[in-house]
Amino acid sequence: MSISVLVGVQWGDEGKGKIIDVLTRDVDVVARFQGGNNAGHTVEIGDEKYVLHLVPSGIFRDETLCVIGNGVVVAPDALKSEISDLQERGIDISPAKLEVSSRCHLILPYHRLMDEVREARRSSGNKIGTTKRGIGPAYADKASRTGIRAVELADLARLEERFRAQTEYYNSIFAGIGVEQLDVDAEWEALKTAAEFIAPYVKDTVLTVNRAASQGKNILFEGAQGMWLDVDYGTYPFVTSSNTTSGGACTGTGLSPKYIDNVVGVMKAYTTRVGAGPFPTELFDEMGEELRRVGGEFGATTGRPRRCGWFDAVSSRYSCMVNGVDELAITKLDVLDGFDEIPVCVAYDLDGKKVTDMPSDTRDITSAKPIYESMPGWKASTSDARSLDELPDNARRYLDRISELVEAKVGIVSVGPNRDQTFQA
Ligand code: IMP
Repeated sequence: MSISVLVGVQWGDEGKGKIIDVLTRDVDVVARFQGGNNAGHTVEIGDEKYVLHLVPSGIFRDETLCVIGNGVVVAPDALKSEISDLQERGIDISPAKLEVSSRCHLILPYHRLMDEVREARRSSGNKIGTTKRGIGPAYADKASRTGIRAVELADLARLEERFRAQTEYYNSIFAGIGVEQLDVDAEWEALKTAAEFIAPYVKDTVLTVNRAASQGKNILFEGAQGMWLDVDYGTYPFVTSSNTTSGGACTGTGLSPKYIDNVVGVMKAYTTRVGAGPFPTELFDEMGEELRRVGGEFGATTGRPRRCGWFDAVSSRYSCMVNGVDELAITKLDVLDGFDEIPVCVAYDLDGKKVTDMPSDTRDITSAKPIYESMPGWKASTSDARSLDELPDNARRYLDRISELVEAKVGIVSVGPNRDQTFQA
């Protein structure tokens, strides 16, 4: 039996969907524990490409039960569309395959509108660049104790009363700031349809995961986003609104920390970020363009071009420490195949001082200048490698060096988007 947590150790988009899909071969339960449909986990199976936003990446395995844990914020309309789209493509999804925690907070239309309005009203340097999926406002309502939870989807009369009251409340705010109000009747009709569709999937999933653990089943917790978008540890306020780190797996599903055996940290062989906020190794030159082009670095949820830069060992080491990473899954190594030299950031220059620990002040991270060590490139394709021995020497040296710098061992290497372009180190 093994209970593992898989998290992104950078700014998200590390390729978690693919690694989870590979790891779920032997897994009984896959559970999401935070975030919402701001996530976009890409899974490629043969010629088919799927982008999952809320449904856990275990959905493609017949024997795997997928759980959306209580720490996730769920947009009923988005979940309904995602399930329907997957069903139309022949994926088997039923309440026997997918469970949604009764404790999940709902993302409702007023959250999305508020996300948009807040983002539009932020001055240019203060924009977060959110996905506009209503994530922040929904978590804010949860903390403010005014949220509506999935358990309420089954009782339409109660849901309608709560939804109308909350929409009216938000409409009074929108009216006050000159924003067009939501049409309560139309929004209720849409929510009602989604509620009827989702209600059969809603269960007390705290029981599901605890029973699975006590029966000795294999469980994989699927993190979304990444360490530096964590609301506590990330580059605040340029973060998402949940705990993306491994500790979130317990609060976000109701399983005790004593059960966790293994933490897998997914890390790209370079660095990317979507949205605003500091990114010390960001490249603004043709090298950055090249990483974006070769790596296909465009957001899976919003299509936005991702900001690209070299590998940053300062932030990644701190991240491996906070997450307690037991093994790294290093992705997109093949994207570096064509470079003559590959710089790796080993420290920051902060006002003339050399710093090797990630600063907590976002202003310091913004002004930090990367100090690089240069590694020779390998100038050969790695996409067909299926073991460390089949990699060029310099690619192996590169993996060894970044593993040494972040103080975590390499467990998995990915050299392409497909399931089979993955091997154990
Ligand atoms: P929010 O989660 O939509 O509130 O967005 C907050 C920040 O997190 C923005 O910078 C987003 O671009 C970023 N973000 C949210 N979800 C993801 C993700 O799945 N991958 C990468 N960045 C994300």
